[in-house]
Amino acid sequence: MPILTIMPGGTTVNVAEGSSVLEALVAANSMVIPKCNGNAECGSCHIFVQEGRKGLSKIQRVEHERLDSIIGVGSKSRLACEAKFGTEDAIVELLGFNSGL
Ligand code: FES
Repeated sequence: MPILTIMPGGTTVNVAEGSSVLEALVAANSMVIPKCNGNAECGSCHIFVQEGRKGLSKIQRVEHERLDSIIGVGSKSRLACEAKFGTEDAIVELLGFNSGL
């Protein structure tokens, strides 16, 4: 079972394979449900993946298009609602506006 570490703060949570980073963040009370309920439409679940990027699902077109419309996107950016866990651990950083830690 992969482990998600949430920065800042370093909270850890066990994650079921196949679940999204957003589901894990909500379960850990680290993120309120964003406006689009995980449909890659609002961009409010933008996170940086600090480690474990290759263990997450690949970026699909809809996520790419949404990320292209967000300011401050970098090479570590993902939408938490679209990034799904495989078997590897990950460390993600919440951005200031949605960090509850
Ligand atoms: S929850 Fe809206 S884009 Fe991810």
